[in-house]
Amino acid sequence: MDTIVNLAKRRGFLFQGSEIYGGLQGTYDYGHYGSLLKNNIKAAWWRANVQQQRNMVGLDASILMHPKVWEASGHTANFSDALVDDKITKKRYRADHLVEEQLKLKVEGLSNKDLTKIFQENEIKTPDGAKADWTEVRSFNLMFSTHAGPVASDDARIYLRPETAQGIFVDYKEVQATTRKKPPFGIAQIGKAFRNEITPGKFIFRLREFEQMEIEFFCPPTEAKKWHEWWMEERMRWYVEDLGITAANLHFRKHTDDELSHYSAGTSDIEYKFPFGWSELEGVANRTDFDLKAHMEASGKDLSYFDDATKESYVPYVIEPSCGVDRIVFTALCDAYREEADEKGDSRTVLKLAPALAPIKAAVLPLMKKPELTTLAESLWSELAPRFQTEYDETGSIGKRYRRHDEIGTPYCVTVDFDSLEDKAVTVRDRDSQQQQRIKISELTAYLAEKLAI
Ligand code: GAP
Repeated sequence: MDTIVNLAKRRGFLFQGSEIYGGLQGTYDYGHYGSLLKNNIKAAWWRANVQQQRNMVGLDASILMHPKVWEASGHTANFSDALVDDKITKKRYRADHLVEEQLKLKVEGLSNKDLTKIFQENEIKTPDGAKADWTEVRSFNLMFSTHAGPVASDDARIYLRPETAQGIFVDYKEVQATTRKKPPFGIAQIGKAFRNEITPGKFIFRLREFEQMEIEFFCPPTEAKKWHEWWMEERMRWYVEDLGITAANLHFRKHTDDELSHYSAGTSDIEYKFPFGWSELEGVANRTDFDLKAHMEASGKDLSYFDDATKESYVPYVIEPSCGVDRIVFTALCDAYREEADEKGDSRTVLKLAPALAPIKAAVLPLMKKPELTTLAESLWSELAPRFQTEYDETGSIGKRYRRHDEIGTPYCVTVDFDSLEDKAVTVRDRDSQQQQRIKISELTAYLAEKLAI
């Protein structure tokens, strides 16, 4: 875990949010390489789920929504965690986490009363091992609230969305009508979500501000089981084939009845083997007609679908594959990280990211800072840059520059040397095999395009 966090910081993938003020817990900022990696993940998801699916369309809904949305969806009443306060230190903790970690007990579905009893009957310590004096366990709503307009009254209270999904349900009818889709079809959306997590942490695993990529797939109720299975398989395929994540580090975990969300008739998580153990990367849920029916009732608008073929109306069932972009960034970093020998037998750290995810696809490196070499290298950069994210890098020895690009996962380093001036060719070094090949400058773009498969 520490090696990944150090690399991410050292190479400018991620920084603690508001670091110069001591940091704001639960927030991280993406630096140059981090934002490139994150954008590549989002682009791969959009390509697979919108561009390459005939029955899928996109949406970009507002973060701020009418407060009635969250009443109808059940978030105002149910979107809460159980928390407990230590009266000695005045610190607040997730009650379920403390019990699970210290008593090795699964507590999903237990009431606050039951949890309070567990705290009274067992000597549960703080996470640092100190003795505590616990309050009763209470529910704490995870939605961040604010006020719309200049008056901070209860009437003006609105929330930062805790999931992007509700924007899709609320806009469902308009999207369906304007795109002329009929079930089975889905709506995909990428966007920020906010949760006032009691214990954010584990690097970017649990944040207070994060990004989700969610699909709501609307189908006839009788087809829900079939589409649930279809999406589970497709989403697992995407991680392995499109992102190149090691299949052995991914598995499904089915939710028990006790832990199902209030809207779900069945959820299977895709879990990744993080440095701290198997944990959720994505949930694939059967949300039934819960959300559309709830919004029909609360808004008075008809969200049912009239099937011309059968002349019947029905409220579609919804299959929801929902993942967090930040958790996928974390997964990609963990999965690609290697420490191994370099070409000289010294140790090197390398990120073996799939080319589609690599922040920089090619680095152009003049062997030395001599004008004849830098001029040619700069012109090569100008040729490659419109096609691939390319970096021009002339500082440090060539060995140091290879190490730097290994660490950020650059698949190809292109070195311009004195021979290049004569033979009009460059040396291309492959990140993974460390093999070097002489390639004609006139063939370089085509060579890289083929190797990178983009
Ligand atoms: N619409 C369904 C939904 O939001 P969820 O399981 O609460 O379901 C979906 O969240 C995904 O969003 C998770 O699998 C995870 O990848 C990501 N996620 C949830 N909370 C997060 C947090 N606090 N920080 C980072 N990612 C989070």
